[in-house]
Amino acid sequence: MSPSLSELNAPIGVFDSGFGGLTVARQIADVLPHEDIVYVGDTARAPYGPRPIAQVRQFALECLDKLVNHGVKALVIACNTASAAVLRDARERYDVPIIEVVLPAARRAAAVTRNGRVGVICTEATANSMAYEDALAASPGVGVTTSACPRFVEFVEAGITAGPEVLSVAREYLKPIQAAGCDTLILGCTHYPLLRGVISYVMGEKVNLVSSASEAAQETWRVLNDRGLTTHDLGGSNRLFMITGDADRFAGISQRLLGQFVHTAETIHVGRIPRAHG
Ligand code: DGL
Repeated sequence: MSPSLSELNAPIGVFDSGFGGLTVARQIADVLPHEDIVYVGDTARAPYGPRPIAQVRQFALECLDKLVNHGVKALVIACNTASAAVLRDARERYDVPIIEVVLPAARRAAAVTRNGRVGVICTEATANSMAYEDALAASPGVGVTTSACPRFVEFVEAGITAGPEVLSVAREYLKPIQAAGCDTLILGCTHYPLLRGVISYVMGEKVNLVSSASEAAQETWRVLNDRGLTTHDLGGSNRLFMITGDADRFAGISQRLLGQFVHTAETIHVGRIPRAHG
């Protein structure tokens, strides 16, 4: 049965652990400008990166339930850490198409590398999950070097994307990638597109940077197009931001880094907030 008009005009649900998934949402808005977007950011429980995978899975499913109950026509798991943790469970649990960030970025990296040496930078949880290694295992002759870069998220959220401190940390984190001779580097975390300047500066212009945010947006376009799910409403689009923590802080950080993409955000309640990480 083909989808009804109201199903076609339903929003795309985008989920992230917090604020970084906006890099994905913004790219989706670029390639699908007429689509409505509903965003859930679990800022009260972010960062997910240092958390055990099982806990990330539980938190992510609670947030994804919220989006599905909102009536979204597709789910985008914008968070690399959550994509690594929850993809299979989410595909079993929901009827709507699910797009995640790991596989599209891995596919692009495998397609563009010339020497078969692909680097991945990501959170600790994504590194521990081996999600990128698994995604690239199907590409013959591709070797993967992964470096977890936990402080990058802190820098971005503090609004620091340039200067000596972030440069020196980037030099340290990127050493293993350079030592392995990678000609392609996957920015395997939502926040890293905002550090593209410093990462590219350290890696040099011969290294391809693959952004999981833009690859996921392209994948969203492909899935909606191939399944005949693009909106028929070609008027303006609506964006709704639902945040588990302080909505004003979220709007403030995003306006500082992404301009007017987020006008207002509202606080919602999802699951239980643990006292400490882990
Ligand atoms: N969104 C996370 C990711 O892409 C980064 C922030 C966090 O650790 O929660 O992996």
